[in-house]
Amino acid sequence: MEQINDHLCRYKNYNFGIGLTTREHIDSLQSFEIRDSDVLLVTYPKSGTIWTQQIIISICELDGCRNKYPNNLEEMPWLEYREGREDYALRPSPRLFSSHLTPVLLPPGLKDKKAKIIYVMRNPKDNMVSYYHFSNNCNFLESPKSFDDFFEQYLMGNVGASSWFDHISEWHSKKDQYNILFLTYEDMILDLKLAVTKICNFLGKNLNEAAIEQVVEKSTFKIMKKDLKANYEFLPQDKVKRDFMRKGKIGDWKNTLTAAQSQRVDQRLHERLGDMSLKFIWE
Ligand code: PPS
Repeated sequence: MEQINDHLCRYKNYNFGIGLTTREHIDSLQSFEIRDSDVLLVTYPKSGTIWTQQIIISICELDGCRNKYPNNLEEMPWLEYREGREDYALRPSPRLFSSHLTPVLLPPGLKDKKAKIIYVMRNPKDNMVSYYHFSNNCNFLESPKSFDDFFEQYLMGNVGASSWFDHISEWHSKKDQYNILFLTYEDMILDLKLAVTKICNFLGKNLNEAAIEQVVEKSTFKIMKKDLKANYEFLPQDKVKRDFMRKGKIGDWKNTLTAAQSQRVDQRLHERLGDMSLKFIWE
């Protein structure tokens, strides 16, 4: 891996946090055997990953098919950060995984269209504000000098997981190759019950109305923030300060981005994703 600064290294056009994974491990994903029953959640960082993990895990628990791992990270680990964990090939089905990777880095077996992928996208303005705060609280990411500086790095893709625009573009342009459900963070905020129902149907789980309501309740920001299995406060404090669940809102970017910055994001969206007819909710 090519080191690009004190916190990031680059491999196959993708920025990884230093020390979080290895080239060998990323290469090994090319021969990782995917099962038809696997479920993979894919996001660009700070797009609603731990929230969607909670929804998927709660659905599976109510459907009676979970092994009890101590927390959502163990229950639904990131494929790219396997170091030090057990061999995922030995996990019983159905296996649940998370990832921030782009299609080319993930196991080719996902293209058989049997394993299920849930992709969650968040609007880039809120995404970058969330990422900025997280970077300030996380010792494996570079602490931004200022929001303005972070804004430039984000637009250039000089952050972990590289460019938000590339991530969205790559996943959207290749979506027909996968069995994939696209959701947005904003849709989840605006109608959580509908999002839970969509995920439930996609996973082929037959939960009744009361069970759906239970999943919704467990996944609200307020309840989840107190849920020690779900709120990521179980991570060592020297790695990440307690800020995984910060505000959980749409439109917080308005408190941070200048009008000129907001226009630059609009412009970039138009240039990079203008032909994809994506709909963004900004407030
Ligand atoms: S990470 O580090 O990539 O796994 O982060 P990720 O989980 O993708 O994104 C964190 C943001 O998601 C918000 N969040 C929620 N919003 C609404 N409801 C619920 N239940 C919820 N859980 C997490 C979290 O607060 C982060 O957004 P910000 O804007 O920073 O608050």
